[in-house]
Amino acid sequence: MHVDEVLATTRAVRRRLDATRAVPAGLIRECVELALQAPAGSNVARARFVVVRDPALRAAVADVYSDVYRNSYADSAGYIGRVPTPDAAAAEVQQRTSRSADALERALHEVDTIVIACLDGARLDGVPAFASASLLGGVLPAVWSFMLAARARGLGTCWTTMHLAREREVADLLGIPFDSVQQVCLTPVAHTRGTGFRAASRPAVDEVVHWNGWDADRPRPPAVTGLITRGGVH
Ligand SMILES: Cc1cc2nc3c(=O)[nH]c(=O)nc-3n(C[C@H](O)[C@H](O)[C@H](O)COP(=O)(O)O)c2cc1C
Repeated sequence: MHVDEVLATTRAVRRRLDATRAVPAGLIRECVELALQAPAGSNVARARFVVVRDPALRAAVADVYSDVYRNSYADSAGYIGRVPTPDAAAAEVQQRTSRSADALERALHEVDTIVIACLDGARLDGVPAFASASLLGGVLPAVWSFMLAARARGLGTCWTTMHLAREREVADLLGIPFDSVQQVCLTPVAHTRGTGFRAASRPAVDEVVHWNGWDADRPRPPAVTGLITRGGVH
């Protein structure tokens, strides 16, 4: 696959995760090896990949995800800027994403591999913006590279952060030192049913590129309005 195709078609795969085919550990290792080529602040490799393949542990992690998804996701809507919209087309996209999210919640209980990406060396609670940008910037490129590498190998992933509302429980389950390791992303990894994926609908380039300074006339995403209040942010 050409690199542009990988970049344009690495989707959040939820409905097409094939839980009937085992994912070889070697493929996971290859993806991590490529991920480690991503840039990292101060050239310190802080990205860590906790690969959960033990059935009991996997089920326990999936249970946490389900619990957050079913019981406290609505409360996070303002926090992540996912607000009800009067625009019918946008509402339809949101409904489709919700149905797809239902499928992911089920799939997490079926796939043989869940990967939790972490930042090793700091928690981001209360950290100033410049430091959190630097620290997150030290690991998120690696996580995305992992997903691109997976796509190039016929594997599907889906970036999720929902379980972070119960991050400490997952830390305890997996022995992740909560005080010094920040979980940043949870993803299933599975072969995809079929390998053809389309580019998604995204904002036009001219909406998001500001030449020579901020252009106040551009459309803006919904403002982030608050913090998750129920379900607990640790
Ligand atoms: C930071 C971040 C957090 C996300 N959290 C979740 C999540 O908790 N659950 C989920 O189903 N999808 C989650 N997603 C996936 C997005 O919903 C998905 O990228 C978006 O709907 C666009 O889909 P596409 O990339 O296939 O076009 C997350 C994506 C990002 C980048």
